[in-house]
Amino acid sequence: MTVQVQSKVNHLKVSQARIKQFAEWVLLQFNKANYNLNIVIIDDAEMSWFNEQYRQKSGPTNVLSFPFADGAEIDLAFLDVKELGDVIISIDTATRESIEYNQTVEHRLNWLVSHGILHLLGYDHEKGKKEARKMAKKEQELLKEYTLTRRTQMTHLAINVDHVATIRQARGITEPDPVAAAAICEMAGASGIVIHLREDRRHIQDRDVYLLRETIKTKMNLEMGANKEIIKIALATKPDLVTLVPEKREELTTEGGLDVFSQKKKIAKTIEKLTAKNIPVSLFIDPIEEQIQASYDVGATFIELHTGTYCDATSEKAQANELQLIHTAADEAASLGLRVNAGHGLDYHNTAQVAAIDTIEELSIGHSIISRAVFSGLDLAVRDMLKIVQQAGR
Ligand code: PXP
Repeated sequence: MTVQVQSKVNHLKVSQARIKQFAEWVLLQFNKANYNLNIVIIDDAEMSWFNEQYRQKSGPTNVLSFPFADGAEIDLAFLDVKELGDVIISIDTATRESIEYNQTVEHRLNWLVSHGILHLLGYDHEKGKKEARKMAKKEQELLKEYTLTRRTQMTHLAINVDHVATIRQARGITEPDPVAAAAICEMAGASGIVIHLREDRRHIQDRDVYLLRETIKTKMNLEMGANKEIIKIALATKPDLVTLVPEKREELTTEGGLDVFSQKKKIAKTIEKLTAKNIPVSLFIDPIEEQIQASYDVGATFIELHTGTYCDATSEKAQANELQLIHTAADEAASLGLRVNAGHGLDYHNTAQVAAIDTIEELSIGHSIISRAVFSGLDLAVRDMLKIVQQAGR
């Protein structure tokens, strides 16, 4: 299989791995799996140059196809040539069009890739209405079929119950108990329970970790810093997953992803210790290419993409940009063979967009769910107490 994808723009804006996967799949549908194809992602400035040079049109366009040996004087038909040619796509125009058509950039890019390849295979919408209809129908068929080949599992929801422990610790008594909260979350359908055992034990306590290990029926994901004492507890309790996070005493919650890139040795050592006991390790990282590659290099099984910047974005544009970074990072990580989770700051308004990314397996959500539970449970809690108060004197 020889599809080459090259990006001449900021790499993380677009997942080359995803484009390659789709293009290879399209070629397979036409029994052209062994043909060479080049796809180049460029910006509007370069696309304008191509558009002017080859079509005498000013301004950028979305996609241009250049069949192999186009314009050659000799007839190549008799040669056993397995070259299709080049497809060039402007990421700037693709992004603009995705907003215009209310699609993800990935969907738009897939459409442009299919459009470009169909041109190389002889389809041409400029030859008339009938040809245009034929080409559009084929594009729609390809995109629909490809969508059906994607995600096979629904996104999992793991619930972080640290916040229940925070309320307990505020009083220094025994309730509310995160162990009981975990059971309710599981009964409601959560696929896993997340707890963060911090060095300062500000919410989850050692007792919670040991008890939850006994009671959790789904999966226990233990978040922790790469700290000696905590590693010991992880080795003793054997969670289903350990997520390594950066930990600063002064922070209110985890701020920013783990810098795996500049601590490769230390993190690789921790991963080695844990995986030797069959505990898979996830690394909580920002959606940055060098952190993904470093996570792969140190032997992580999972990454958890930090969604905090996406959730904190204050404009639609900034949020769309952050979502695009997460989407691309997830695709790139998955193409390396890493499994991908995501979380931090996800709430009832910003979660659906992340859950729609098919390379993300699981979302880890805490604060927004516990916050809503306070209000959705408050009415009943007041009525229950009122009953006691009002009936006591009767
Ligand atoms: N993932 C990680 C690594 C976290 O540290 C946290 C916060 O404890 C979460 C997910 C959940 O974030 P939130 O409570 O904002 O949903």
